[in-house]
Amino acid sequence: MNRKTLPPGEPGRYLGQVIGGSLTAGLAVKLDPSVSPEEVKAGVLVTVVGESNRYVGVVTNIELHTADPSLPLLVSRDVPLLAQAARGNVAYAILTVRPSIALPLVAGPGTGAQPARSIPGHFAPVHLATSADISAVFGEEDERHFWVGSPLDLDCKVCLDLPLFVMRSNGVFGKTGSGKSFLTRILLAGILQSGTAGVLVFDMHNDYGWLAKSEEGPAVKGLKQLFPSKVALFTLDEAWTRRRGVAPDHVVRIPWEQVEPEDIALLQETLNLTHVQVETVYLLREHLGKRWLDEFCSLRSNAEAWKALREQVAAGAGTLDALYRHLQTIRRYSFLTEGDGSSPSSVQAILDTLARGMTVVLEFGRYRDDPTAYVLVANFLTRRIHERYVKQTEEAFTDRAQAPIPLVVVIEEAHKFLSPAVARLTTFGRIAREMRKFNVTLLIVDQRPSQIDPEVRSQLGTRLVCKLDDEQDMDALVERMQGGRELKAVLASMEEKQQALIFGHAVPVPVLVRVRPYGPDFYSAIARTATPSLQGEDLFG
Ligand SMILES: Nc1ncnc2c1ncn2[C@@H]1O[C@H](COP(=O)(O)OP(=O)(O)O)[C@@H](O)[C@H]1O
Ligand SMILES: [Mg+2]
Repeated sequence: MNRKTLPPGEPGRYLGQVIGGSLTAGLAVKLDPSVSPEEVKAGVLVTVVGESNRYVGVVTNIELHTADPSLPLLVSRDVPLLAQAARGNVAYAILTVRPSIALPLVAGPGTGAQPARSIPGHFAPVHLATSADISAVFGEEDERHFWVGSPLDLDCKVCLDLPLFVMRSNGVFGKTGSGKSFLTRILLAGILQSGTAGVLVFDMHNDYGWLAKSEEGPAVKGLKQLFPSKVALFTLDEAWTRRRGVAPDHVVRIPWEQVEPEDIALLQETLNLTHVQVETVYLLREHLGKRWLDEFCSLRSNAEAWKALREQVAAGAGTLDALYRHLQTIRRYSFLTEGDGSSPSSVQAILDTLARGMTVVLEFGRYRDDPTAYVLVANFLTRRIHERYVKQTEEAFTDRAQAPIPLVVVIEEAHKFLSPAVARLTTFGRIAREMRKFNVTLLIVDQRPSQIDPEVRSQLGTRLVCKLDDEQDMDALVERMQGGRELKAVLASMEEKQQALIFGHAVPVPVLVRVRPYGPDFYSAIARTATPSLQGEDLFG
């Protein structure tokens, strides 16, 4: 039967009835004998019809029970008749259902979907959710509601409320190869299409701009190919970008002179700097002034001056030499330039492009596997862009100037910026903690959520979680959440690829989806449904 054709209100397949449970632990639902436990998957959505509400919830667990503890010892599958008689009756399955929202049975003014604060009574019937239920809960696809995937057992659309989504920092998680970059590209296409926010992507692995690799077939389109007039391609490596037959809109250059001690401090992990070396960097800035980096490097050839400097900053014998070597590693990067950057800077080019309502994708080209280059560049640019957003937003409060367009900053390998050791230092940590105060939020993409600072994790509005294997990573994503243990059970049941459990701010109920396929059908759907921009004020006002 095609459930898509069912009229609204007609329930989906009958699964069983409520026999116990609580609001906090979830409902216990006895599975009807006509349904095999194998037919019900963790993560599916169900409806429960109470006396005045229809509840929508998610199946988080399935357990086998017997009415009498000695039954399993007495009944065996060698006696098929007995086993068949017992199965489903005195030997039965219990589903745990977490009710998330309540829809009033009788619609009236102001009676939309509400978070479930009550539960249905005993024997309330439980059905699989239908397409009509899914639309009632997640909204119909329109300029605000973006289709991200389908429920496991239904051919219909689960939508994300985009304006709600971009209001907070969010995370896409999953182990390598689980589909994070594909899902992120889909989300970004949705944001771009709706015009809900400007986007700046630090595209470490060259996954978002122009052509992206696919494990299963030919390369897929990048965002610039889907939205040629809305996406500017910035690159750190012009030759690499041009080799693919595309001219970059801007080649990013970072003036060596503008690199600050903070920029170096954040490279502690990737450059393997000791604590003392990092402290010395700050002392060098204090002693040598604004041009500390150049001064420091040129002093190296003068033995006398080098010795004097060592005494000045009270550094141990090897400290300055080691630091010099590390800084030379950075200095070899072709994107670092001499001079003070007085010509129009890359920071300004990004700000100007964003101000025109465009998205910036910064490709790393040959630096794609170089975490030092990634952390250095992403931090350098984001710190300065964030400063400008703070200033502009504050001016907008006092002078009625125009507030900047909301900005979503996308970082892959987010734990490098947001580990407990550095989250307090980086602008990224600050953006996550400030929420949307200055119109900047993060979309973090990461395979090791447990390595992200817990405070930052707790600020994430919506989480889209693809397959994870590591217990700690799963625990980290559901910690301190009501029903977290049950959600973890759903996470553990997921398939290797192209599935995501979505929960948080932008969806009314946690939902496990097959992520929309990213390919030719997606491209044409995007081309068909170009929509006018929603205004920034509507979102952040
Ligand atoms: N939504 C999707 N549509 C089409 N293919 C997908 C999708 N999600 C994942 N895949 C397949 O899985 C592979 C791995 O996905 P990817 O996003 O690169 O993983 P990750 O970024 O988590 O390492 C892709 O190369 C692609 O073949
Ligand atoms: Mg990836």
